[in-house]
Amino acid sequence: MEELTRIAVLLSGRGSNLVALADACARGEIPAEIALVISNRADAPGLDRARERGIPVAAIPGKGLAREEHERLVVAAIEAAKTRWVCLAGYMRLLSPAFIARFPRRIVNIHPALLPSFPGLDAQRQAWAHGVKVSGCTVHLVDAGCDSGPIVLQRTVPVLDDDTSETLAARILEQEHIAYPTAMRMLLTRAWRLDGRRVIFE
Ligand code: GAR
Repeated sequence: MEELTRIAVLLSGRGSNLVALADACARGEIPAEIALVISNRADAPGLDRARERGIPVAAIPGKGLAREEHERLVVAAIEAAKTRWVCLAGYMRLLSPAFIARFPRRIVNIHPALLPSFPGLDAQRQAWAHGVKVSGCTVHLVDAGCDSGPIVLQRTVPVLDDDTSETLAARILEQEHIAYPTAMRMLLTRAWRLDGRRVIFE
């Protein structure tokens, strides 16, 4: 059997995208295994979701540490786990250019809006408050900017007149749980290249 690609997932909270990725790996839809979950918050529920699945976890709090020192610990944990890919799944810290350069084209993020609209925090509320009629989620390669890297995949949802930002966020989250595993499957199983900022699948 072919060796499974090892993935590290970085998260800060609930961990529903981690669950979607881990379940897709377990079903064989992504030829990979989640080899490590790292959180910058020791109390992140996502760490429990990982433990329930027997996935090794590391809590590496950022508080009280300089960014370089915190990132040094995160990089050391990733390298010790020998993972090839890093998936950000609700990881609420911006990574430094030095961190990103360490894993070129191998860091992926999911964002709950149709980038380049509404980067940053609370994207679903930003989109809802702006009054857009369509929103969605974006899976993208991570570069040194904020939610600015090359787009791998997007999925859309309608915004309904009676939506609150919470009902919209829930509709987007359903699509996130399809988009992230699909994008990882594509990145791992198909030939692809970057043409400028465009991710082209052969
Ligand atoms: C998800 O909606 C994800 O798109 C978002 O955080 C949530 C994490 O949920 N990420 C960002 O906003 C990053 N800019 P989860 O912990 O249940 O996967």
